[in-house]
Amino acid sequence: MKKNYYITTPIYYPSAKPHMGHAYSSIVADFFARFKRIEGYKVFFLTGTDEHGLKIQRAAENNKKKPLEFCDEISKTFKQLSKTLNLANNDFIRTTEKRHHKSVQNLWNILEKKGEIYLSKYSGWYSVSDEAFYLENEIESKEGINVAKTSGSVVEWLEEESYFFKLSNWQNKLLELYEKNPNFILPKSRKNEVVSFVESGLKDLSVSRKSFSWGIQVPSNKEHIIYVWLDALTNYISALNYPDTENDKYKNFWPADLHMIGKDILRFHAVYWPAFLLAADLPPPKRVYGHGWILSGEEKMSKSKGNILDPVEIINDYGLDSLRYYLLKEVSFGNDGNISKDKLISCINSDLANNFGNLCQRVLAFVEKNIGLEVPKIDTFNEDDLIILNSFSENYQNLIDFINNQNINSYMNFIVDQMFVANKYFNDQEPWKKKDDDKRLKAITYTSLELIRKISILLYPVIPQSSLKALNIFKIKEDEINIDTIKNNSFLKAGSVINKIDILFDKVIIND
Ligand code: MSP
Repeated sequence: MKKNYYITTPIYYPSAKPHMGHAYSSIVADFFARFKRIEGYKVFFLTGTDEHGLKIQRAAENNKKKPLEFCDEISKTFKQLSKTLNLANNDFIRTTEKRHHKSVQNLWNILEKKGEIYLSKYSGWYSVSDEAFYLENEIESKEGINVAKTSGSVVEWLEEESYFFKLSNWQNKLLELYEKNPNFILPKSRKNEVVSFVESGLKDLSVSRKSFSWGIQVPSNKEHIIYVWLDALTNYISALNYPDTENDKYKNFWPADLHMIGKDILRFHAVYWPAFLLAADLPPPKRVYGHGWILSGEEKMSKSKGNILDPVEIINDYGLDSLRYYLLKEVSFGNDGNISKDKLISCINSDLANNFGNLCQRVLAFVEKNIGLEVPKIDTFNEDDLIILNSFSENYQNLIDFINNQNINSYMNFIVDQMFVANKYFNDQEPWKKKDDDKRLKAITYTSLELIRKISILLYPVIPQSSLKALNIFKIKEDEINIDTIKNNSFLKAGSVINKIDILFDKVIIND
């Protein structure tokens, strides 16, 4: 029986075209989705756009467009970005779709029926940019303007009739959830922030607005629009055909294994979302991981600061796999990171071109010249061959654990080490000096080919396009990739044909 795995990205606000921060959330989620697939899981990987609320309504007005027309346009650029990033997502959900509308209203009705929602009046601070309510102690005045301390976004004073969700009732249940599932919120440092926020006392949450119209109506009171976060979070179950909880998709994939999000939206995912679900008698997700930000200089990117890094520009200049490799290797996962052109170029030139790319070309050229383009037949491996080949089976369980703990950096370090060691092995063994020793010559080339195969498999979640090109040496197709085969030292069959491949990575020439 196949095991199931459900992973999601945040759904992005189509208020402006996508930037590097959005690309980062998506690439990281795609990395895990692809790994789980080659581990044999049936993966459902979801992404999409979050299209309601005042933020979007205002963005549309500023562009002199109707909200839906505006969303159609910008949502397309996010969908296009998923393609540009080579995401292996199964679905792309838009909150303006019917299936989602139905799902949100259903969840609302259940919460209302269970007495979890009541009508009252909200007065307090609201940031349209964050679509979030803030307490008095969470705001400060900067140059005479009130802003949220955490995000720096402008807050407005709001006073209007509103429905409230009885969040205060769920404080203990949430604390119990965090305690029973110590890895529900990762990384650990972020978990502590959430736990102290919940421990400090939860107030009921305003979950509807009356003063604008762009959103999903409260079914029992058309004057109210459902709070955009209650609307948005529900996307994760709308895509599984909720409210039909008996269908296979829902049954196979809910609760989600991993909501991959940025640290700025942790409270919504780790406090509000599980509380809504528990209140509706639905299981909460298994894990929420809040990654760091990709900074532009020292600051978070934002339209108002005019410091946006465009992923498409970098991809056009350096290639998608180079960007993916850089973000996964160079950013300390969980912490904030930066895009440094020098480091990006060094990743391409040293790791990808000189190390891995060069290994493939050298080994292939050697095989072609000395053996002919087929896998050699060998008798035995010697100690040197086995040490390096066995390091994959010896580290197999570690690699699986790294992924299950979202420890991207340890996974990447293993690959980088293996690329280095494989090159060194080929140099040290000097097969070109073994022309009189047919057995060793063949054992060394076979070992080197196996190393290329194993490393390419590990690289698949990181740089899928280049990995597939390398695996084409052995005619291994995408749906045949299986992580278990890195444990096998004799996967390649003697006599099977070897394909020559083009150079995998072009070096970047640096002009001073
Ligand atoms: N629409 C909400 C999410 C709803 S999920 C039910 C939202 N959208 S967003 O477009 O503003 O941000 C989406 C994701 O991009 C968040 O995870 C956010 O952390 C991430 N990033 C936005 N800017 C970022 C960086 N500069 N760096 C890394 N990720 C950041 O929030």
